[in-house]
Amino acid sequence: MRKIKMILDCDPGHDDAIAIMMAGNNPKIDLLGITVVAGNQTLEKTGYNALNLCQYLNIDVPVCLGASEPLIKEIQVCPDIHGETGLDGFDFQELTKNFDNRPAVHFLAETVLKSEDKITIVTTGPMTNLAIALKLFPKMKDNIKEVVLMGGSYQNGNVTPAAEFNIYADPEAAYIVFNSGLEVKMFGLDVTRRVLVLPEVIERMEKIDNKASVLFSKLMKVYNINQNNVFGVAGGPLHDPLPVVYLIDPSVVDLTHVHCDIDISHSSSYGRTNCDIFNYLKLPKNVHVAIKVDTEKYWDIIEEGIKRYT
Ligand code: RIB
Ligand code: CA
Repeated sequence: MRKIKMILDCDPGHDDAIAIMMAGNNPKIDLLGITVVAGNQTLEKTGYNALNLCQYLNIDVPVCLGASEPLIKEIQVCPDIHGETGLDGFDFQELTKNFDNRPAVHFLAETVLKSEDKITIVTTGPMTNLAIALKLFPKMKDNIKEVVLMGGSYQNGNVTPAAEFNIYADPEAAYIVFNSGLEVKMFGLDVTRRVLVLPEVIERMEKIDNKASVLFSKLMKVYNINQNNVFGVAGGPLHDPLPVVYLIDPSVVDLTHVHCDIDISHSSSYGRTNCDIFNYLKLPKNVHVAIKVDTEKYWDIIEEGIKRYT
């Protein structure tokens, strides 16, 4: 079976780190590159986190810096969950890997436009880079297979009652992507809140006892302390690997095709993914939304991915 040609756009970030881990050495995925965006922390921090993760895990792909702020609103980082570094809890060796000299938007456009196969774009942070790329190079749409994102919620949010962080961080960027006409698959809080990295999950992965399991357990222990401080939970939702796990095994989730509008009205629902789950409005359907997740399969795939690192 042909590998899925994929670019991962992210804001590492503890859960982004596990998404990188899962994409970095899976036989079904040809990871062409990683583009980085400001989100969980500033671009400088998310950028170096991505480089450090690739160096530590021996993932030899280009890492390209992207947008340092959203299209319109002010940047709003998330140290409460991801710490001052954006990846608190793990001390990396001296960094020798360098950034690719292409800006993220140029890497996205160049890679998509020249590829013989259609490319899957996975985003696990604010969608600023992809939105800019689509506006500057609209012909990319002809060679993008689908956009598979962690973000949104058809129920309630996690930064406001209405909005989830990745969308709320840059609602206008999400609006551009959700209305691009591309195949969009949204993995929101509705399903990611079902995959909690509870202490018993950390213990399970710790037993693998390789470099990936050490990284997983150290990062997740700090992630959980922060998630407990903010949300009072014993285990945080492991959001970002889900779109990657879906590409590895689509049977992990159930999707439903709906009309979804991003609220950019600057109301109290600014940044909300308004998903018409019951098709009240009979509007054209533009997004496939994940509504169910097989949590056992999810953790089995995470475990397999960790084991694959020698
Ligand atoms: O709301 C969860 C999302 O926001 C995840 O991608 C996490 O990394 C943060 O970026
Ligand atoms: Ca993220």
